[in-house]
Amino acid sequence: MEVVIVPDAAAGGELIAEAIAALLARKPDALLGVATGSTPLPIYHALAARVKDGTLDVGGLRVCQLDEYAGLPAGHPESYRSVIAREVLEPLGLGLERFLGPDGTSADVPAACAAYEAALAGAGGVDLQILGIGTDGHIGFNEPCSSLASRTRIKTLTPQTREDNARFFASPDEVPHHVITQGIGTILEAGHLVLLATGAGKADAVQATVEGPLSALVPASALQLHPHATVVVDEAAAARLRLADYFRATYAAKPAWQGL
Ligand code: F6R
Repeated sequence: MEVVIVPDAAAGGELIAEAIAALLARKPDALLGVATGSTPLPIYHALAARVKDGTLDVGGLRVCQLDEYAGLPAGHPESYRSVIAREVLEPLGLGLERFLGPDGTSADVPAACAAYEAALAGAGGVDLQILGIGTDGHIGFNEPCSSLASRTRIKTLTPQTREDNARFFASPDEVPHHVITQGIGTILEAGHLVLLATGAGKADAVQATVEGPLSALVPASALQLHPHATVVVDEAAAARLRLADYFRATYAAKPAWQGL
């Protein structure tokens, strides 16, 4: 696992946008897995700025969804499909034909989950998956004690995650209890995992992910199993890392050609 400590969220966004640009240079029709929430927004802003100034061609890019609320009505502004359309597809000038996501409105949730697994496999798999992290260590919506081998399925949000996400809804009661999320086993099949964490509120979860034991109690610790996992953290989120100085020195000495 590579850990990169950046000065702030904007620098993290730029760094990850650079890695995505390098991926697109190698593979113009790459499948990019996108997370929602606040953390990845600087990545999407950095990508959109590059598209706007003509330095990045996303003409072949495909985008897929990590997780979704179950049971919100189609078109709800806080469904993750709507958020991705607003924050990723529209700013990058991509149509819905470039997008893959689970159907959070389906009455047959197991069938919707199986269909999404099949769609991801049919698309050739995710090349680079952007991840955020919950304060409880979740990735996607794989809450603590999710199976490390799990596939796309329904999960119940913890009270903590519902409270964390209440800021997106008019009232806390409106936050759905149930979600559809790629499983940890599904996420681990992506070619490159890139987790961005910013702010002091993520410092404990980051420390447990990077330095703690591999444990279903900290779902993000599953990144330790992946051969190409990058954790990008700002100073505040890095504050609890015991090996912070080692991570800084390693990255400072890294040859530029290696990229992330
Ligand atoms: C959402 C997702 C979640 C979030 C996490 C952190 O698609 O995958 O794991 O990344 O809940 O959310 P923020 O970034 O809002 O703190």
